Amino acid sequence: TTVEWEAASYDMGGHDTYMHKEIHEQAEAVDRVLRGRIDDRFSTVHLGGLNLDARDARAVRRVKILGCGTSYHAGQIGAQMIEELARIPADAEPASEFRYRNAVVDPDTLYIAVSQSGETYDVLAAVQELKRKGARVLGIVNVVGSAIAREADGGMYVHAGPEVCVVSTKCFTNTCVAFALLALHLGRTRDLSVRDGKRIIEGLRKLPRQISEMLEQEEDVKQLAAQYADARSMLFIGRVRGYPVAREASLKLKEVSYIHAEAYPASELKHGPLALIEPALPTVAIVPDDDLLEKNRAAMEEIKARSGQILAVAHQEQEKADHTIVVPKNEDELDPILMGIPLQLLAYHTALALGRDIDKPRNLAKSVTVE
Ligand code: G6P
Repeated sequence: TTVEWEAASYDMGGHDTYMHKEIHEQAEAVDRVLRGRIDDRFSTVHLGGLNLDARDARAVRRVKILGCGTSYHAGQIGAQMIEELARIPADAEPASEFRYRNAVVDPDTLYIAVSQSGETYDVLAAVQELKRKGARVLGIVNVVGSAIAREADGGMYVHAGPEVCVVSTKCFTNTCVAFALLALHLGRTRDLSVRDGKRIIEGLRKLPRQISEMLEQEEDVKQLAAQYADARSMLFIGRVRGYPVAREASLKLKEVSYIHAEAYPASELKHGPLALIEPALPTVAIVPDDDLLEKNRAAMEEIKARSGQILAVAHQEQEKADHTIVVPKNEDELDPILMGIPLQLLAYHTALALGRDIDKPRNLAKSVTVE
């Protein structure tokens, strides 16, 4: 794979930036992470590299996911998928924090290290510390043969292909899809039904086409970005499945456009952030068509009542919002994957409107191999 990477993939292919190119490679990239892994006969997936047999999979009592930056956010989405589909308690934590708090390392916990580069020092050090204490650690990594991939007991490659832009886009999406596969696998060794297994597989298969549909709306997102580009600060809100999406969107915007952005659970607005709402502070609301739709509408109403502007990312036009980006609906559990995509475009076009150095934002590095 490394050799293939070197040949064609560093070519800009007519795009002005790698970020733009990588955003547009996502349908193809998702197709790659799915390829050869789906088992229709048992409505599950084959993940040979996990080195986790059915007995091991059933013995897992808890899942702890570690990563930094965008990989940490993909881990938060992954933790929710694992809880929802496999009913195993799961959470994500920045690897950089985990390794310094003398965490209790538990033999019944499955640890998962997430890293695009596979070289992030804080993640590698967390893996080494866990292994030193006898834990089982899997890697969800993009770069084949990287340090974290070598150090882990097993894992999955996300097959996003080389990601050159400092800010991660296609690798984030593929990591989320990899987590969906892992959650399906863990779920189907436990109590996830054949019917639900099929439903998730069908949802996964729809993703590449839906990503392409989403990217066709780029021109509209570009116009919206131009309207919001003069904001000094932006608030991103979401609930449960929408919250890590809001966090990643906020990170993407601040990294690449340098606009201050903060993500909050929509449910916590009344405990603080409502004090910030005024016309000059736009809110991006992640509003999936799930059981929290009415709650999210109520949150938007609170913001409107205080003259805040709202851009909704939703499955249907939101009348409380000033603008809505409509995202194709998938299965509830997989919705976060698609909802992230227009927000990458929003960050990209905002940065472009502001004349930022998109592929190499100031003060940031693609892979942080020192502490
Ligand atoms: C750096 C990059 C981020 C990335 C993070 C983790 O901070 O600027 O875009 O998410 O490292 O990188 P990794 O390679 O471990 O996913």
